[in-house]
Amino acid sequence: MNGKRDLITLESLTSKEIFDLLKLARKLKKKPLAKKGIYADKTLALLFQKPSNRTRISFEVAMVHLGGYVLYLSPREISMGEREPVKDVARVVSRYVDGIVARVFSHKDVEDLACYSDVPVINGLSDLAHPCQALSDIFTLLEKKKTLKGVRVAYVGDGNNVLNSLLIACAKTGVHINAAAPEGYGPEGQFLDKAREIAAESGAEINVFNNPHLAVQGCDAIYTDVWVSMGQEDQREKRLEAFRGFQVNEKLLREANEDAVIMHCLPAHRGEEVSDVIDGKDSVIYDQAENRMHMQKAVLLKIMGK
Ligand code: CP
Ligand code: NVA
Repeated sequence: MNGKRDLITLESLTSKEIFDLLKLARKLKKKPLAKKGIYADKTLALLFQKPSNRTRISFEVAMVHLGGYVLYLSPREISMGEREPVKDVARVVSRYVDGIVARVFSHKDVEDLACYSDVPVINGLSDLAHPCQALSDIFTLLEKKKTLKGVRVAYVGDGNNVLNSLLIACAKTGVHINAAAPEGYGPEGQFLDKAREIAAESGAEINVFNNPHLAVQGCDAIYTDVWVSMGQEDQREKRLEAFRGFQVNEKLLREANEDAVIMHCLPAHRGEEVSDVIDGKDSVIYDQAENRMHMQKAVLLKIMGK
């Protein structure tokens, strides 16, 4: 063990570390080039098995702002697990670069990358977790609500990677969360149990519903994500049927607190999980997207070092 830090799920960060990241992201948002050139000798590899807009660009631009170099490696170039085993990719790539951001289908692949790599590995989305997204989302909530104390978020939709990480992020920062999903599509048990365990200490309330109308009562934000995540395309018809009634729309928004905001990690499928309410005045989706870059920069400084 060389003492390196990885970010595979948010369980590896303490609450204090998350609050420090929020502080650093806020500072970096005010002064994006505050430490210009700090990464002049650092290279970050992005190993992506799935497409990306926000995660790829925000990490690339964050590295440019820090003065570092980025290598984007698309699925075709590395074919991780197909052309060669994950452990060989990890061992070889970590001889060339100072950090890896990986976007994978199977969570085990990002865990294996971290296990066999000599350099820090950051999870840029797996089928189970999206930690960088959740950190940025808490940052956006803090910006919009000015505090996290007493804030309550409703997540309406699929109990997927985005929700799994959001549950842990809320639990660690004391944000209350109501998750509503159809029967059989709720959050992953291991993340829910862990979030509840952490929440018992932080004071966060974690509630799971099968009814979106109950979930949004008293909420300051309504969050949703696609019903069909990358890699689930063959379940599309079944999922569209199962999620009927779970759309975030004007009617649902009116059932939440008056100043409730609409959140979505994007990409969004208007007409499915969300209506055009996402284009209205209560939507904060583009701030969420922008904040990925500020938070990513804070994450890089924390995980790859200064
Ligand atoms: N929210 C998010 O991770 O977007 P991308 O898939 O475009 O990176
Ligand atoms: N749940 C979505 C998130 C995309 C950022 C997916 O995994 O495709």
